[in-house]
Amino acid sequence: MTAQTVAPVLAVRHAQKRFGAVHALKDVSLEAWRGEVLALLGDNGAGKSTLVKCISGVHALDEGEIRLDGEAVALHSPAAARNAGIETVYQDLALFDNLTPAQNFYCGRELASPSWLPRGLRFLNGRAMDRQAAEVLDRLKVRLPKFDAPVALMSGGQRQAIAVARATVFARKIVILDEPTAALGLRESRKVLDLIAQLREEGNAVILITHNMEHVVELADRAVVLRQGQKVGELKPERANQQELVAMIVGAAG
Ligand SMILES: Nc1ncnc2c1ncn2[C@@H]1O[C@H](COP(=O)(O)OP(=O)(O)OP(=O)(O)O)[C@@H](O)[C@H]1O
Ligand SMILES: [Mg+2]
Repeated sequence: MTAQTVAPVLAVRHAQKRFGAVHALKDVSLEAWRGEVLALLGDNGAGKSTLVKCISGVHALDEGEIRLDGEAVALHSPAAARNAGIETVYQDLALFDNLTPAQNFYCGRELASPSWLPRGLRFLNGRAMDRQAAEVLDRLKVRLPKFDAPVALMSGGQRQAIAVARATVFARKIVILDEPTAALGLRESRKVLDLIAQLREEGNAVILITHNMEHVVELADRAVVLRQGQKVGELKPERANQQELVAMIVGAAG
């Protein structure tokens, strides 16, 4: 295949989404490529999380389509999106409060015992799940007071770190992070930024939503800006055009 015939790993085409009177996405199109970090920027209410949820099978688009590797797909549920290779860390952190970190990690895709075991002896491989989840969190330098406690008892930052860690474990193609460092301290933010760079190295397309322009300039290969549900710009973020980017976000450029 030549470079020209390679399709973007993700293409959103003419996306429209309404919530009653709110027109949250107005004819939005964008592409994401393997091995790049795409920043999705915009002020509060611009439509970023809505777009993420449409790509992740939480909301259905009213109009438009989503293509993965060039093929139009119908993502009817978060599980369908996950099966298609889309890992998402939601802004509103979809962890299950009453489950432990390991149970949250593997929820919906628990490590099953080998199939050669008689049916009655099969059980979820709890210890292996605990071990894997603990290894990943350790690599991320995430310190939890108690690994086997329900996540309801953990801080916002700890929960955010668990959600990011979970996405990185299962990343295969597209990783979407909706404000992944919003609740994190400096040290933990740094870990997450390193992790994003690593996901890119591994060939994933990473879509990063953040209000932190320093992080955008440091990490993003490309930025798409939404304003009031519309795509208003696309550029390569650099220190030299940081002001231009901010103006695009708030609409000051006219
Ligand atoms: N489930 C919903 N029901 C009704 N309106 C919604 C829903 N989700 C989002 N909206 C509306 O759609 C618009 C876009 O919201 P969205 O959450 O996508 O913004 P955002 O760019 O992620 O903002 P922020 O930076 O604050 O997270 C807002 O006006 C919001 O109130
Ligand atoms: Mg949002």
